[in-house]
Amino acid sequence: MSKNVVIIGTQWGDEGKGKIVDLITDRADAVVRFQGGHNAGHTLVINDHKTVLHLIPSGILRDNVTCFIGNGVVLSPLALFAEIKKLEESGVEVKSRLRISEACPLILPIHEALDKAREIKRGGNAIGTTGRGIGPAYEDKVARRAVRFKDLLDKDRFRVRVTELMEYHNFMLQHYFHAEPLAVMQTLEQIFAVSDSLIPLMADVSGQLNRLYREGKGLLFEGAQGTLLDIDHGTYPFVTSSNTTAGCAATGSGFGPNHLHYILGITKAYTTRVGAGPFPTELFDATGEHIAKIGHEVGSTTGRPRRCGWLDLVALKRAVEINGVTGLCVTKLDVLDALPKLQLCTDYRMPNDHQGAAGLPSHSDDYAQVLPQYMQVEGWECATLGVKRYQDLPPAAKAYLKIIQSYVGIPIDIISTGPERSETIVVRHPFD
Ligand code: GDP
Ligand code: IMO
Ligand code: MG
Repeated sequence: MSKNVVIIGTQWGDEGKGKIVDLITDRADAVVRFQGGHNAGHTLVINDHKTVLHLIPSGILRDNVTCFIGNGVVLSPLALFAEIKKLEESGVEVKSRLRISEACPLILPIHEALDKAREIKRGGNAIGTTGRGIGPAYEDKVARRAVRFKDLLDKDRFRVRVTELMEYHNFMLQHYFHAEPLAVMQTLEQIFAVSDSLIPLMADVSGQLNRLYREGKGLLFEGAQGTLLDIDHGTYPFVTSSNTTAGCAATGSGFGPNHLHYILGITKAYTTRVGAGPFPTELFDATGEHIAKIGHEVGSTTGRPRRCGWLDLVALKRAVEINGVTGLCVTKLDVLDALPKLQLCTDYRMPNDHQGAAGLPSHSDDYAQVLPQYMQVEGWECATLGVKRYQDLPPAAKAYLKIIQSYVGIPIDIISTGPERSETIVVRHPFD
C-alpha cells in the first residue's frame, strides 16, 4: 500500500514548505494544492536557480510528477495563465502535467479591487493582505454566488453569472467604499483571452486522486500559508480566509482523511510573520534585523519585509495538536549560526495571570496581550549552512533541536540548512 503525506506550515507561513515539498517529491507521484490561492509564494532553489511558485504545486520541477489544484483553492485564471507562461518560458513543461478541479471558485479582478478597497477602509486596522482578492473570493464561495472554473465551459452562462456578480460587487465598491467600479466587458475580455488555454486542464481531481491511490501511487498534499493564519485556528481576524490546517487536505481535494498517513509540520528555527497582527516573540532589536538579513526575510509574493522573532514553542505545540503532526521539519537552522545566545518561548503569561501556563489564547486581542516566557540557550557560533548529515551538526545545534523535539513530543524528521534542495538533513523520509 502506498503512503500519502501532507505538508503544512506550523507558523504564519513562509516556513519553507515549497523547498520541502520539492525535496520529498522524489518519492511522490503527485502533488496537490488544497487551499489558498496565489497569495502563496513557495520558493525552490535547485543548482542556484530560483523558482517562486504561487498557484502551481511545488512538484512541477520534477518531470514524472502530476500536479493537482483541488477544489479548496481559489483560482485566478489571469494569475494562473501568467504563472504557466513564465514557467514554460523557462523550459518547464506545465500543461501536460497540471490538472485543476472544475469546482475551484474563480478570483476575478473585482475580488482584487474589493480586497484593496476593504484594506484602505480598515485604515490602521488593516490586515495587511496580499491584495490578491483571496478573502472576497472565499466570501463568494460561502455565500453560494461564486463563479466556478467549470462555469467557463458555457460562455453565455459565464457572461450572465459574471455580470450578476459584478453588479452586486460594483454597488459595494461605488457606494460603500467610494472606489471606482469595474467594467464587466473588460473582465470578460480578460478572462476569455486566457480561458481557452486553461479549460483543457479541467479535471475531476477527486476522482483522479482516488484512482492514483488505488493504483498504489504516493500523493503529497501541499499546504499554503500556516496554522496561525488559519481562518478558525489562527490569530483572527489577522488571518487568511481558508483553513490552512491538515484537515483541509481532505476537504480541499475530495480525498478521504483516513488515507492521509503522515503529516509533516514545517517550522522555521525562529519565527516570521508578514502582514499585521499579534506576534508575541517578535524582536524589534539588532537580533531581529540580523535574522531578517541573514534569512533574506522578504515576502516572496509581495516583497514586503517579514517581521522576525524567536521560536514560539507554545504556538508550535498547539499547531502540532491541531494538525495531528506526525513529524517535524525544522528549516533555516543556518540563519541562527552567528548568534551567541538563543531564546525559545516556552510559556505564555497573561497580564494579571499569576498562575502561568495560560495556553494559547484564541482571540487575537488576547494574543496581543501575551507575555512570552523564555528559556535561553547557547548558540553554536559556527556554520551549519549546507550540512547534510545530522552527526555533522555542532553539539549546541543538536541541543537546540532536542529541546524543540522534547517540548512538542514528536520527532524532528527533516532539518533544512540552506535554501538549496540538497542542503537538507533527512533523518526519516516521510514516504518511508
Ligand atoms: P514557503 O512559503 O513556506 O514555501 O516559504 P518561502 O519560499 O516563502 O520562504 C522561505 C525562504 O527561505 C525561501 O527564500 C527559501 O529559499 C528559503 N529557505 C528555505 N529553507 C531554507 C534553509 O534551510 N536555510 C536558508 N537559509 N534558507 C531557506
Ligand atoms: P505562503 O504559502 C505568509 C498573510 C498576509 C496577511 C494574511 C491575509 O507563502 O506561506 P490574504 O491575502 O491571504 O487575505 O492575507 O495572510 N499571508 C501570508 N503570509 N505566507 C503566505 O503564504 C501568506 N499568504 C497570506 O500577509 O497577513
Ligand atoms: Mg511563502
